[in-house]
Amino acid sequence: MDGDGHRIRCVPSPALLLANRSSDEPEGLADYRARGGYDGLAIAQEKGPAWLRDQVAASGLRGRGGAAFPTIRKWQLAADAAGTEKYIVANGGEHEPGSNKDRYLVEHHPHAVVEGLALAGLATGATKGYLYLIEDMRGPRASAEMALGEANEAGLLPFPIAIHCGPTTYVAGEETAALNAIEGEPAKPRKKPPFPGEAGLFGKPTTVNNTETLAHVAWIARNSGAAFAAIGTEDSKGTLLFTLGDQVEKPGVYELPFGATYRELIEGCGGGLKHGRTVRAILPAMSAAFLDGAHLDVPIAYETLQPLGTSPGCGGVRIVDETTDVVALTLEIAEFFMKEQCGKCPPCRMETNQFVHILKAVQAGKGPGYDAKMSKLATFSRKKGDCSLIEMAAAPVISALSCFADDFAKAAGPAPKDS
Ligand SMILES: Cc1cc2nc3c(=O)[nH]c(=O)nc-3n(C[C@H](O)[C@H](O)[C@H](O)COP(=O)(O)O)c2cc1C
Ligand code: SF4
Repeated sequence: MDGDGHRIRCVPSPALLLANRSSDEPEGLADYRARGGYDGLAIAQEKGPAWLRDQVAASGLRGRGGAAFPTIRKWQLAADAAGTEKYIVANGGEHEPGSNKDRYLVEHHPHAVVEGLALAGLATGATKGYLYLIEDMRGPRASAEMALGEANEAGLLPFPIAIHCGPTTYVAGEETAALNAIEGEPAKPRKKPPFPGEAGLFGKPTTVNNTETLAHVAWIARNSGAAFAAIGTEDSKGTLLFTLGDQVEKPGVYELPFGATYRELIEGCGGGLKHGRTVRAILPAMSAAFLDGAHLDVPIAYETLQPLGTSPGCGGVRIVDETTDVVALTLEIAEFFMKEQCGKCPPCRMETNQFVHILKAVQAGKGPGYDAKMSKLATFSRKKGDCSLIEMAAAPVISALSCFADDFAKAAGPAPKDS
């Protein structure tokens, strides 16, 4: 407990992913093996793909790339698909402002990602794997090359794994955009169906998993699905990585079990806000909806955040304090999505451009009516894109209008008088 009576639980003991190490250097093979690394792969190779899928089913693991899709459902689709040539892709193409966890994980614990990639390939029948990064990830790339070199030399990899770097854009992290990038095509999302599990890379069944998801798989293979399911809450199992930025005393990447709270994260791990400021609201991830500061003690879980209209997303937490200009922040977010949408789908282009246009009018004090216009745009655009960026842009922008209703009304000013 801290002085205010809040429970402090920074990391589960021991941490599942962010192993306590004295050095900040990338973890090499010897260190990783010393803490049981690649034991899970050896067990899975002995017991077989069905055993591994059973463990992951029992673990309740959901994808950590943002959408929280049950990992086993995706794996089963690829495992059941016909064909002797299949692919597995580790998605480390992280380019969401405020999120640094994949970059951190690949750079500091590359073997955990490589082992998870090998395991996921084993479970789904893959014949080749890719570790997908983006071009500006020099540190993670160097670590990944080191880890793959060591694992290859030690004869640990059941199939070849290559590194591919896509362009440094947000949409290049979308799974089918990543597949296009690996194929040498522009990194833009594909229309679905078909889903990658049916026809992905080069038209073959492909599984795409986030790098954090895969590092969890390595832990599960070593410790069992039941051990993983014992951590967390009813519907949200295991731990989650979070990124805290410069607003807190101790910015960084932290690991917490589901069921911990944003107060524990911000105060216990991050040391609280700088300059003694207070949390007014948080944005759990750039593509989630704002969460009012009154909910800081709600246990973080899919089932608790969903009724509040939001989700943990990829854990890159933005904090709104009493000094934040929330209209400017919302405009900054809208401009990010406008800039990053890939231009393929007219409703996405229109929605993101209009959000920016309307928010600029609010800033310029052009009067009410903005909320109805933006809600109408979001409703019209829903599910009309080839990827979910269209919904991602709407979540923070529309939720800001209700979370900070007074700020927006004040900025927009009164209705202009008829001339
Ligand atoms: C615009 C956009 C960007 C995305 N960026 C990433 C990313 O950087 N990393 C990632 O793992 N998933 C990203 N995703 C989600 C992926 O499409 C995919 O769902 C994920 O890699 C699947 O892994 P998981 O099931 O382990 O979460 C993005 C999705 C969208 C729509
Ligand atoms: S929804 Fe937006 S980002 Fe996604 S493919 Fe269409 S235009 Fe591109």
